[in-house]
Parts: sequence; structure tokens; C-alpha cells
Amino acid sequence: MRSPDPAFSTRVERCFRGGAATYQSNASLQTAVAARLARLARPLASALPPGPRADLGAGSGLLARAIEAQLGGPSLLRLDACEALLAQESSPGPALQRLWNLNAGLPEELKGSSLLASSFALQWLEQPAQQVTRWCNALRPDGALLLAVPCRGSFRIWHQAAAAAGVPCTALPLPDAAALQQCAASALQLHHSQLLRFSRPNRGARPFLHQIKAIGAQASPAARLQPGALRQLIRHWPGPEHAIVWQVLVMVGQKR
Ligand SMILES: C[S@@+](CC[C@H](N)C(=O)[O-])C[C@H]1O[C@@H](n2cnc3c(N)ncnc32)[C@H](O)[C@@H]1O
Repeated sequence: MRSPDPAFSTRVERCFRGGAATYQSNASLQTAVAARLARLARPLASALPPGPRADLGAGSGLLARAIEAQLGGPSLLRLDACEALLAQESSPGPALQRLWNLNAGLPEELKGSSLLASSFALQWLEQPAQQVTRWCNALRPDGALLLAVPCRGSFRIWHQAAAAAGVPCTALPLPDAAALQQCAASALQLHHSQLLRFSRPNRGARPFLHQIKAIGAQASPAARLQPGALRQLIRHWPGPEHAIVWQVLVMVGQKR
């Protein structure tokens, strides 16, 4: 578990800023997961209480737009620490966008929320399980939490290649799905909670690392690999018969 490190948050923001212009065209998995999460929440459309709705770590607003399309109702406030990513979405207007560091908790106005949603953002935050508890606490009774987050067990081939090469693995440490499920289950009635496995073709270490960088998601608490260590990693990267696997926890729950 990562402990508070403001320098890391700054690096995360800088990387996403660098990838902002190409984020949407490269974020195919994030787009698919946002659509899926919004579809799963559709049955809740008429069951949600009045109150604020927000997309936490909204980036360019993929999830907010998917939810608005599937559920109707009020627009979602888009919160994110990266202004350049928020700026990729022109339609919602400044009133629906908030530059905000989620490590500091939620803004006051989201207390008593009707809907809090987040996709592919929680893993960047300090103490993800604690954030889930905070988010659940901010919901009003019957308010919903919609969450998608990549979890531990993703990118096994990256970890294996680093171990075989004898170099540090610079993958972002990902949260434990069971711990997040437990936090959510203690506050919510979970309508859906599943660890989904997404498999992507493995075209080698360089194209994989390039893909991560193309969406600005290359920040890591580990020091960057030196050229020699990177060459070792590339040499030990498994062949295309080993896919790149994401384990993504998808949850939909309602406050009891
Ligand atoms: C991979 S993007 C996902 C964006 C969007 N939810 C989606 O599914 O396309 C991760 C997002 O989390 C945001 N993020 C990371 N750390 C954050 C923090 N401390 N506070 C607010 N947003 C943060 C990034 O700026 C980025 O927009």
C-alpha cells in the first residue's frame, strides 16, 4: 500500500498531462469498461435519491458521459487533478468540472451524494481502500457507488519478466480486489461485484510500455529503469503466446 507522497501525485499529474491529447484515442479498454459499468447501473436509474452526482478521477469524462447516456437525470460533476485531461471534454462547461486532488478527500458539496462513480482512477490514489470507505460515507441512503479499478494480479508477464531479468518491476502497485470488496460490502448493498479478466495481445515490451505512455499512465513510485536494465527487461519479456492481462474489479452498490 502506498503511503502519502505528494511528489508522486505531482508525477502522476505530469504524466497524464503529457498524454492528455492522445488519451481518448488510445484508451480503448477504459472506454469499454466505462460503457459496461454504466450499463450495469442502468436498473438503478429510477431508484436513485436526489443529490449530487460525480465522476471521481473523471479525466476526459468517458464514464460521466456513459452514465448520463444510460441513466439520464442530472449531469455528473467531473473531478480530476489533471486540468489538461478535463479540458479534453468541451461540452460539460466549467460548472461541471472541478480541478481536485482526491487524496485530500471529497469536496464538501459531495456530502450526501446520490451517485459517485469512478473508473481506472482509484489505483492512482493513496490508500485505495480508505478512499472507498470515504466515498461510501459520502453517499446518502440509497445513493450508489459505481466503481471500476484494475487490481493486483494484472500484468503478470511484466512482473515475471522483471523477476527473470533481475531488475525492479516499475508497474504501478495495484490494490487488492478482496480488500476493496470488503470495504464496499460493509457500507453498501452490492448489486454487482466481479473481477473481470481482460486479455490483450502481447506484441512485446516496447509496444506495451509505449501503449501505457500513450495514455499518460506511466508514472510509478519505483525509479525509472536505466537503459541497461530496460534492455534486460525487454530480453526477458515473454513471447506473444502470453497475453497481457488486466484484472478489473467492477462494482455497483447502493448505500444501505
Ligand atoms: C487512467 S485515467 C482514467 C480517467 C477516466 N476515469 C477514464 O476512465 O477514462 C486516471 C485519472 O485519474 C486521475 N487522477 C490520478 N490521481 C488523481 C488524484 N490524486 N486526484 C484526482 N484525480 C486523479 C488522473 O488525472 C486521470 O484523469
